[in-house]
Amino acid sequence: MTDLDTFIAGLPKAELHLHIEGSLEPELMFALAARNGVSIPFASVEEVRAAYDFTNLQDFLDIYYAGAAVLLTRQDFHDLAMAYFARAAADGVVHAEIMFDPQTHTDRGVPIAEVIEGLLSAMAAAEAQFGMTSSLILSFLRHLPEAAAFATLAEAEPWLDRIAAVGLDSSEVGHPPEKFARVFAAAREKGLRITAHAGEEGPPEYVHQALDLLGVHRIDHGNRALEDPALIARLVREEMTLTVCPLSNHKLCVVEDLADHPIDAMLAHGLKATINSDDPAYFGGYVADNYRAVATARGLDREALATLARNSFTGSFLPAEDVAAHLDRIDAYMAAQG
Ligand code: HPA
Ligand code: ZN
Repeated sequence: MTDLDTFIAGLPKAELHLHIEGSLEPELMFALAARNGVSIPFASVEEVRAAYDFTNLQDFLDIYYAGAAVLLTRQDFHDLAMAYFARAAADGVVHAEIMFDPQTHTDRGVPIAEVIEGLLSAMAAAEAQFGMTSSLILSFLRHLPEAAAFATLAEAEPWLDRIAAVGLDSSEVGHPPEKFARVFAAAREKGLRITAHAGEEGPPEYVHQALDLLGVHRIDHGNRALEDPALIARLVREEMTLTVCPLSNHKLCVVEDLADHPIDAMLAHGLKATINSDDPAYFGGYVADNYRAVATARGLDREALATLARNSFTGSFLPAEDVAAHLDRIDAYMAAQG
């Protein structure tokens, strides 16, 4: 490990933008395919990895939904999440707010109870084994109708006291936030927090809609907000957290080159940017890899990395006293650096 690697791994951080289905490594995909007798369109782990060459979001989503077909039982969801928690703990993640897409599974006939109970049991195990806290974000697939999102919210009703927030993901362009205004209003009425992917491929207008029509507490990605100076000013004024995913942005061609990544521009504007892995099994790195990538590609110093880590706690759905305790840990860590 380099000094930078050691610094990043030791920096306490939260991960706020992680699709648990996107943490399915090819090795586990093969193991679960064998365990469940599901056939997958790949002959080897190498062939799977070779297929992870995307030119846009939809390219990735097609293969990501195909991979999820191996997930059938609560044990599968438990194993999937435990593999993520173990990997995240090694990266210095002390709190994770993980998204899951119930519709990807219920539409294949998997009961939502299998999905949620498997994830909840892994979350309890991660707290016991790694001291890592976590919470769940139920995400609606935006390429499906709003009525399907309403049905999913109703199916999740018995677990809503164990779900922190609802989110919005999948194919962005052509599926603006306004399509889901009513279901997000219903979720807000149930006391759920709100987050939504916006401005990854979609225009700044979608970020405006996420703020105005969904009442988001944070924006997932948000890159294209940088095209709109008035929107930047609003996001700064409202202290809106952006969950930025550098390796994802590169793999999905949101940025052509990591050297062009706007993370330091976001910080310079005063935006509350955070660093996250999105779908680490598909994009070539977990959260520490993402910190390292921007540190190297954009020359971020340790203070900037600490700012990104602080933002991950202030942007989390943790209670204020927990946020304060995590920020104190970052201060102590920084004070102990030579
Ligand atoms: N964008 C939209 N949908 C997604 C993503 C993403 O980055 N990852 C998993 N589902
Ligand atoms: Zn995402």
